[in-house]
Amino acid sequence: MTNRFAVVLAAGQGTRMKSKLYKVLHPVCGKPMVEHVIDQVSSIGLNKLVTIVGHGAELVQSYIGDRTEYALQEEQLGTAHAVMQASSVLEGQAGTTLVICGDTPLITAETMEALLRHHEETQAKATILTAHAEDPTGYGRIIRQSDGDVKKIVEHKDASNEERAIKEINTGTYCFDNEALFEALKQVSNDNVQGEYYLPDVIEIIKNAGETVSAYQTETFEETLGVNDRVALSQAEKLMRKRINHKHMVNGVTLIDPEQTYISPDAEIGSDTIIYPGTVILGKSNIESDCIVGPHSEIKDCQIGSYTVIKQSVAHNSSIGSQVTIGPFAHIRPESHIMDEAKIGNFVEIKKATFGKGSKASHLSYIGDANVGDDVNIGCGSITVNYDGKKKYLTTIEDGVFIGCNSNLIAPVTVGKNAYVAAGSTITDNVPGESLSIARARQVNKENYVSKLKNKE
Ligand code: UD1
Ligand code: CA
Repeated sequence: MTNRFAVVLAAGQGTRMKSKLYKVLHPVCGKPMVEHVIDQVSSIGLNKLVTIVGHGAELVQSYIGDRTEYALQEEQLGTAHAVMQASSVLEGQAGTTLVICGDTPLITAETMEALLRHHEETQAKATILTAHAEDPTGYGRIIRQSDGDVKKIVEHKDASNEERAIKEINTGTYCFDNEALFEALKQVSNDNVQGEYYLPDVIEIIKNAGETVSAYQTETFEETLGVNDRVALSQAEKLMRKRINHKHMVNGVTLIDPEQTYISPDAEIGSDTIIYPGTVILGKSNIESDCIVGPHSEIKDCQIGSYTVIKQSVAHNSSIGSQVTIGPFAHIRPESHIMDEAKIGNFVEIKKATFGKGSKASHLSYIGDANVGDDVNIGCGSITVNYDGKKKYLTTIEDGVFIGCNSNLIAPVTVGKNAYVAAGSTITDNVPGESLSIARARQVNKENYVSKLKNKE
């Protein structure tokens, strides 16, 4: 089998984004554009993958990691110049090289495979992935000869009015015979409106050398959308969201309003789960089957068991068991572990705490840095006092404990198994198991006090 290589172009600053953030790092559905491209291209089986970095090189590398080799383009002199930076890794090797722009986040592995197949079938030295664009403004145009063969690509800025009327565009993805590519790159000049070394110029160079140049037109322009500004970014976001949501619906997830449901490309959701509008599921979240999530909830990097209900709440970086009820208006902060059948009610905040099976905190509580056992009842308004201004301390509440309303548990402290804490207590010392602890001032009723006060001169 022929060697397959790929080069991803990701060195540009992206001036048209008007941003401090490098263009290819702008997220689409929460994931940097270039990472979408790398995810797709690495799934097609390559001998070598090289990403060209320049602006924000270190940041790009920190996102993508070692899934690809890198070549540095110190000065951004154009897309042909960018590909040349891969010469130390690829030049002189026999094989097929796929070149993709890091700013086309919607391109799929299937389309890349179809392009490679077309390239191999037509035995071309270069194959362009083209698309029909209703509005081709900004894209390079495909110029064909009278016999229909591709002649060259003309950039929008260099094109005549006649050429600008052409709606077949260069998607920025190509297949090349690797050796022919690096030969042709040496001949590219920067004699054009932008004074840049254009990669599309290698098409005409290869053609003029008498070799076969081919084009493969995709059916969906949308998949090849190039993101140069924030308008295109919002279009890419919408298209990606549609694609992700469609996948989940096909898998048996009900989305009440897919237009208003925002799911990360890395999230997994089980069948018969229902997601209400305004829900944002970020990162590598995994929601099992038969859950109800939303409306208006934000879940990030959480593992959630089946038959759990989460309403109008926020949960980050935590595990939540099965048949748990959360919300409305609860906040599950990182490193929390909510066990099966637990209930976290309205205005309850849980932070770095284990909350045992069947335990309940139904209203207005803060449980932070705590180990809460099974079948515990935390009364309304109770608080773990975990912070003395310098350090955080642990509260342990053992199985079966009943904490009366409006209690403060001043950590470090342990409430033993099955103990009761009377409402309004401020607990500073450990409570032994099976006991009742009352830590509040006794009530004093001063009878007729008011009338005495009023009659005083
Ligand atoms: C490019 C193509 C155009 C095509 C369009 C498809 C050229 C000259 N034009 O135009 O024909 O229709 O993509 O979206 O290639 N980059 C580098 N180094 C550089 C310059 C660019 O790495 O010196 C990277 C950018 O980060 C980007 C990609 O190459 O990911 C494309 O560059 P961009 O400036 O966006 O090209 P377009 O004007 O969109
Ligand atoms: Ca572009």
